[in-house]
Amino acid sequence: MKPVNSVLASFGTTVFEVMTRLAIEHQTINLGQGFPDEDGPKSIKAMVDQATQEGPNQYPPMLGIPELRQAVAAHNKRFYGLDVDWQTQVMVSSGATESLAASILALIEPGDEAVVFEPLYDSYVPMLRRAGAKVKFVRLQPPTWDLPQKELEAAFTDRTKLILLNSPMNPTGKVFSKDELTFIAGLTQRYDTYAICDEVYEHLIFDSVKHVPLITLPGMAERAIRIGSAGKTFSMTSWKVGYLTTAPKLMSLIAKAHQFLVFTTPSNLQRAVAHGLDNEQHWYTNLAVGLQAKRDMLQGALTDIGFEVMPTAATYFMNADYRSLGFGGTDVQFCRHVTAEAGVTVLPVSALYSTPDVDHLVRFCFCKKYEVLEGALDRLRKFFAT
Ligand SMILES: Cc1ncc(COP(=O)(O)O)c(C=O)c1O
Repeated sequence: MKPVNSVLASFGTTVFEVMTRLAIEHQTINLGQGFPDEDGPKSIKAMVDQATQEGPNQYPPMLGIPELRQAVAAHNKRFYGLDVDWQTQVMVSSGATESLAASILALIEPGDEAVVFEPLYDSYVPMLRRAGAKVKFVRLQPPTWDLPQKELEAAFTDRTKLILLNSPMNPTGKVFSKDELTFIAGLTQRYDTYAICDEVYEHLIFDSVKHVPLITLPGMAERAIRIGSAGKTFSMTSWKVGYLTTAPKLMSLIAKAHQFLVFTTPSNLQRAVAHGLDNEQHWYTNLAVGLQAKRDMLQGALTDIGFEVMPTAATYFMNADYRSLGFGGTDVQFCRHVTAEAGVTVLPVSALYSTPDVDHLVRFCFCKKYEVLEGALDRLRKFFAT
């Protein structure tokens, strides 16, 4: 048989799948998986039923139903004071993942350079490389994950087509500060590059920290693409409804990629998400309050057990260094060890780097019921006490 596409063939099975399989095999409490174990608001579930019964259940408009595009525009205005025209600047996609893919396909020409921060969400690099980009990695260092301005500046060249920015950031739980964003905005303007902004965790943010979308900074309206996710905002990760906001010129181009990728997104889910954005603001702002309490509980308990826990300003991920517990192996070995021996599964953070040399951190996901978190902590306490 002829060789298949070499870029995709070069990526192995994801660590998420490997750890999940191990978790099932050992029947562990799985804090590696990055999704909530409780569904979002009842009203939006009811709206899916209603919309399905009422119909239409045929292809909705390619850019998304007007109701949802209007709701996304209104949400931009309500939270960030952003004025956008819902008809020319908002597009609905099949999850944020599809918005990311469509934006990358719309912008990258083979040979272009793309700047990303690591550790990073696992879909970016395969899509960038498949589109023909040369990926430049800029590493954020634990425990503070501050923006390394010199390294970032050095990563930009005349061939840089775009930067992909994830704030609030998975897996670090970092929220980029206004100063950091201003620095990034300056570079994109100096080098005339685009910015794809993955903001799926925009509402999962703690301690009154403020999320500032890059697109709201001076000079960024024409070059930034802001991407959100109903899956994250409403704890409905299976729905795969995403939305992007950008300048009309970019939107019409990204819409072409979307047209040939999926064309559209289920209309009943779109109606439900529109209802949620317009009417369930309290639900998703309270979600962050509840998550913050879980973060505090987990952080305290892991510290008591002996982990060195990194600060978590947002998202539902917490990173911890386990070397203080006396384990000398890599993060992958640690994850296999606690899965098999302690009955708790966590994720090795090295899997989210381009090269596995930061291999002493593990990621805990805390969007789980208290009894699940307590159960995992009990097991870890017992295991590390012996
Ligand atoms: C940073 C980041 N972006 C995008 C996504 C995917 O969003 P969606 O499910 O809406 O495609 C995730 C999911 O974990 C994520 O962590």
